This record gives sequence, structure tokens and C-alpha cells, in this order.
Amino acid sequence: MPADTDSSFPADFIWGAATASYQIEGAAHADGRGESVWDRFSATPGKVRGGDTGEVACDFYHRYRDDVKLMRELGLDAFRFSISWPRVFPDGRGRVNTAGLDFYDRLVDALLAQGIEPFPTLFHWDSPQAFEEEGGWRSRSTAEAFVEYAEAVAARLGDRVRFWTTHNEPWVYAWIGHSAGKHAPGHTSETEAVAVAHHLLLSHGWAVQAIRRAAPDAQVGIVLDLHHNYPHSGSPEDEAAAWQVDGEGNRWFLDPIFRGTYPADLLERNAIVAPFVQDGDLEAIAAPLDFLGVNNYSRFLVSAGSDGPQFVRNPEGQYTEMDWEVYPDGLYQVLVRVAKDYAPPAIYVTENGAAFGDVRVHDGAVHDPERTAYLETYIDAVGRAIADGAPVKGYFVWSLFDNFEWGYGYSKRFGIVYIDYPTLERVPKDSFYWYRDLIASRSGAPRPSPVATT
Ligand code: FCB
Repeated sequence: MPADTDSSFPADFIWGAATASYQIEGAAHADGRGESVWDRFSATPGKVRGGDTGEVACDFYHRYRDDVKLMRELGLDAFRFSISWPRVFPDGRGRVNTAGLDFYDRLVDALLAQGIEPFPTLFHWDSPQAFEEEGGWRSRSTAEAFVEYAEAVAARLGDRVRFWTTHNEPWVYAWIGHSAGKHAPGHTSETEAVAVAHHLLLSHGWAVQAIRRAAPDAQVGIVLDLHHNYPHSGSPEDEAAAWQVDGEGNRWFLDPIFRGTYPADLLERNAIVAPFVQDGDLEAIAAPLDFLGVNNYSRFLVSAGSDGPQFVRNPEGQYTEMDWEVYPDGLYQVLVRVAKDYAPPAIYVTENGAAFGDVRVHDGAVHDPERTAYLETYIDAVGRAIADGAPVKGYFVWSLFDNFEWGYGYSKRFGIVYIDYPTLERVPKDSFYWYRDLIASRSGAPRPSPVATT
């Protein structure tokens, strides 16, 4: 890493790794867990590559104690995970499944015992299937149910969890799940996507209040997937196209959260959302936050086409296994722009990482120099953003483990720990050791010593 950005990271900067419940936990039927939309979607033939499902995944549900030890070896300051709503409320609302909450209680204690800050997300897409018959997130009542769920979880864990995230990437859940049909629940309606996004935002605002009631000292935020949109040329048409994409993906969430308005330039989108917006909704959505979580992997290069904005491939670019361009400056631009235009009190990079075609070679190791290079250049971009005034307080690698990559099943490996799926053996990749050394070289404050886990 270039020496000039080294000093940008304060001693109390949080070095983390991220995961999500459906992607790692497995144990889909254990201890009274209810069905999620992802169980239903992945069991539907043709929806997920290879017919893969999250039934077993990394079996984190049963192996978390050893996995927490691995996190300790890595030197993590914080672990980002999500809570599975149908583990806590198998029917979505009403009856609490205590055994489900107990799992997260044990996980939080195990993390804290190793000096690792728990950084939970309440909703990372595994919505209770029970709601779908009543309209799922297209319906406002799901937003109301989310508040009951947030309250129950915060009441149980709020004495130990300091950082709370309501939603993960509402754009993806709304548009990829309800307009593109490539994620659960697999619908293809723009109107539905707009309604879902509004109800996600609304439930976020309400849940912020609910979490603060249960845990008054909590730091509360939301995680958005943000891209910097580069016009393909300096033409006014390409610039307008890039601005439109920025509106649809970034400002559609940033503006209501930080300004209490939907972006006025998106006329069609505003006409679609209007019937779903009730008095007081935008005030609720704009509840003050303690931090913004930013997920970023790539950038968009945008040109104007006859049918609207087009995404252009960079002929000189390097692309990952996801076909996402490696472009660290895109993360730098997102961070400084968000800081300037929206002034969140703090920013965490809650996901960043890359999928490559990792293999375990004859020496038993996994050599992933492309991932290490990717992480190095993106972390350098974070350092530059901090030096230029962005209040970035932490960084989380996506992901700690190879895991269930949604519609791609297990075919894409993002982990810094390789999972040998037939045996579920954990094999730290070279990038794991690189990240461990980076964290060790920067940990300013002495780490709390581990205590016996309960
Ligand atoms: C993000 C998701 C995360 C993971 C990464 C690769 O959009 O939040 O669950 O799938 O992409």
C-alpha cells in the first residue's frame, strides 16, 4: 500500500468482514426457523444456478464457535452478519421463536468474548415467505411487521450490540427481486419494485426509532449499494444518462434518507411512487442516522442510447468473475461525493471485495493474488477519501467466507476463507493472511484479551 495514505486510517478505524444469514448459516430447518423467500425461490427449478440452495451453505449456524476463533486469528475488530427474520418470527409476525433469538444471543456473546464488535443487519433479503401471499414488501403491512421484528431483536441484543443496520441494499431487493426477477421473490414489475423500495425505506425510518427506544445508546444506520456513474464521453447526452442512472440507483435512496424528498428529476418514478406515499412517510424515512453503510464493488460507465441509458464495457478494464470492473477510483468518488452532498455523521464501507476463480492447489493452499491486489487498491482508495475529508470509520471485506452468492449459487467465490463445500472445511486464502497482517500493522490500540466463551 502506498505510504501516503497509511496515515489516513485513524487508530480506532474498524477493520471488519461481512456476511449475511441466508448466504452462510444453513440449518434451514433448525430450531423452528420459518421459510424465507430465498428458500422458496432457490427450491424453484431454474431460478438459481446449479439448483443450489442455502439449506447447508457454510453451516455457520452450527460452526460459529470455530468460525469466531478464525475471526480472532484474523484480528477482526468487527463482524458484520445479518439476522434471519424467519428464525426469529417463523410466521413473520406474532409468535417469537425464542430458540432463533437464542442463536444470535450466543453469537453476540462469542464475538464479544473475543473482543470483536457485532455489527448486525436486520434485513439482508431473507424475508419471511409467510408475507408473500399478502403482498410481501409490496404491502405496507410488511413495513409495520418489520418494526415489531426490529423491536424484538433490539430488546434482546441491545444491551450488548452497539451498531445496528436496518436494511442491506434496498435497491437490489426491490429491483433485482421485483423488476428483473433474478432474486427472490422473482417478480417482474417496475411498479412493484417502486412500492417495495418505498416500504423498505419507510420501515427503515420507523425501525430507527424503535431501535433507539430499545437501545438508547445504539449507533443506527442503513446500508446502500452506491455506484459512481461515469459518463462515457463529455457529451451532454452521456452526462444526462449518467445522472439519470445516479438518480435511479443512488439518489432515489440518499435523497429521502438525508433530505426527506424523492429526487424531483425522475418524473416517471415519482408518478409511480405517489400512490404509495402517505402523509408523514418522508419525515419518517429521514430519521437522523448515526452512520451510512456503503457497499461498493465497481463503477458504471454510462452512455445515452435510444432506449435510455446504456452500460458500456471498458475495453481496457480488468473484470472479476462477476464481470464487474475493478475500478477503485469509483469507491473513492462515492465516498467523497456522499460526504459532500449528504454529510452523514459517519460512513462505514460495509462491503467491498471480489470473486475470482479460486482453486485449492497441491500444497492445500488457495493463492488468490488478484483478490489481494483488488483489496489493496480499494483500501488505498478509502484512505484517499479519508484524507480528502470523508468520515469513513470502518471497512468490511465481502466476504469472510465463500458462500451462497444468490442467483449464482456457490459458483462465485468472494471469501478470504475458502469453503470446501463437500466437507465444509475452512481454508484461509492468501488474502486472509494479507488482511491479517494489514490489520495487525495498523491496530493502534491494544486489543482486548479474549475471555472464555459462554
Ligand atoms: C452485495 C450483497 C451481498 C453479496 C455481494 C457480492 O450486493 O449485499 O450479499 O452478494 O453483493
